[in-house]
Amino acid sequence: MRNRVLYILFTVACLCIFIQACQSEQEITYARYYVNGKGLYEKYCQNCHAPDGSGLKNLYPPLTDTVYMKDNLGKLACIVKYGLNDTITIGGQVYDSKMPATTELTDIDVTQILVYIGNSFGNKLGTFDMKEVSSQVKECR
Ligand code: HEC
Repeated sequence: MRNRVLYILFTVACLCIFIQACQSEQEITYARYYVNGKGLYEKYCQNCHAPDGSGLKNLYPPLTDTVYMKDNLGKLACIVKYGLNDTITIGGQVYDSKMPATTELTDIDVTQILVYIGNSFGNKLGTFDMKEVSSQVKECR
């Protein structure tokens, strides 16, 4: 009887450690993506979208509008890599200038940038998965 209780306790403890380890691995990946994404954003994006994501007047749209990003989740990877030449309305303001492509961005770069912009400037989109981003990027054109 005593052995059985010990056995159960042991199993539960192992499970807890296992789950904990997985969670912190995800957290580490997220933190790494976020930090790298910030560096990439500073290099490739902030000239237009500003360090705080507020954009520039009616020329460059802000990245602070969670509604637009959420509605276009499936397109974000393509926008980041291939730019956008559309007419969009964000926060009541119409934007119709062209965002250039940054084709040198790899799938991991795009994922990291999405983790950064998706969780900065008031956005809380959670993490992005590179496999998902890769398959979106393949379908862009
Ligand atoms: C040369 C200026 C410029 C650069 C550099 C640029 N963008 Fe844009 N971005 C724009 C413009 C202009 C639009 C709107 C395009 C349109 O109206 O079709 C836009 C639209 C967007 C959108 C969709 C609309 C919104 O505000 O949510 C996202 C997301 C975005 N850009 C992210 C990025 C990211 C990430 C980078 C860096 C990899 C980047 N942009 C680099 C000018 C730029």
